[in-house]
Amino acid sequence: MNILILGGSGFVGGHLCHRLSEHHQITVATRYKPAAKHLALIPNTRLCQLDPYRPDELSEALSQHQALINLVGILNERGFSGKGFHRAHVELVEIAIAACKQAGVRRFLQMSALKAGEGQSRYLQSRGEGEQRVRESGLDWTLYRPSTIFGPDDSFLNRFASLLALSPVMPLARPGARFAPVYVKDVVEAMAATLENNASYGQTYELCGAEIWELKALVEWVAEQRRLKRAVIGLPDVLGRLQGLIFNLVPGKPFSSDNFKSLLTDSVCSQSGFEALGLKPWAMSEKAPHWLNPEDGRQSRYQRFRSKAGRH
Ligand SMILES: NC(=O)c1ccc[n+]([C@@H]2O[C@H](COP(=O)([O-])OP(=O)(O)OC[C@H]3O[C@@H](n4cnc5c(N)ncnc54)[C@H](OP(=O)(O)O)[C@@H]3O)[C@@H](O)[C@H]2O)c1
Repeated sequence: MNILILGGSGFVGGHLCHRLSEHHQITVATRYKPAAKHLALIPNTRLCQLDPYRPDELSEALSQHQALINLVGILNERGFSGKGFHRAHVELVEIAIAACKQAGVRRFLQMSALKAGEGQSRYLQSRGEGEQRVRESGLDWTLYRPSTIFGPDDSFLNRFASLLALSPVMPLARPGARFAPVYVKDVVEAMAATLENNASYGQTYELCGAEIWELKALVEWVAEQRRLKRAVIGLPDVLGRLQGLIFNLVPGKPFSSDNFKSLLTDSVCSQSGFEALGLKPWAMSEKAPHWLNPEDGRQSRYQRFRSKAGRH
């Protein structure tokens, strides 16, 4: 199958290209080719630079393809109006649907987020609107709703690890917020399992890892893995909100008021998409030490060396 991926140059996209290129031809449509050149090394994968907001460019790129996967998503927008979220999560979905119809592409895989459409954050609200457009599209669609995704190259555990390295004390908004961190390779496996499976048309898969974590416990665990003695201080909501307001003004918005609002909604599954697909997800505490914990990392490098040498 020839598959075009939007937003494929990011964290999930790299893993998805590796997985799908085993059996398919992949085109990654990117807004800026040089930033995606790492993907050109993957067999059966090519890059195409385009403006995804231009329907004609997108439908032209879609010719000769049989599926579109939309991975585009932003956690923060420029400014505070909600327009940035709407453009990336709703308008782009509308354009992608129209382009598929114009190019005769019926299969449409849409990455969303757990709890899309719930709570007060513009992130989740716009995700919900994007999902609605997909459901009404008349295409052969499948929706994926992961909790927070982790992996060796994520910006979740790695971000906490970097912040913890900076200071002995870490003030944390929404310390009791709950997540079920899901391993990136499990997410892409679910996408691979559904791509050509018509039982998945019209389905929404919630994707959670095997463990539920509270945010404070998770950050303390990351510190432990890094052998760092740190005081993680849970902030009451009044201070958490203030933290969001202050960080709104920091370039790149490392945390924002909208992130704070997203944290008011627990990111845990109400049904298991993995179980529906006959897959078993990893637990974060089993997988992540391989790259978070230097000793575990050395150990696994040693194990890899032994297994390469045929000594299991
Ligand atoms: N990572 C997680 O924990 C997590 C959890 C739940 C859901 N998700 C969703 O999964 C998807 C992939 O996540 P990810 O972590 O791989 O994201 P990512 O690393 O930020 O990559 C997303 C890609 O989308 C494109 N993009 C970014 N902003 C855009 C914009 N305003 N308009 C159009 N394209 C834009 C970029 O590709 P180009 O610059 O090449 O065009 C970027 O590489 C996203 O939809 C995300 O919301 C992620």
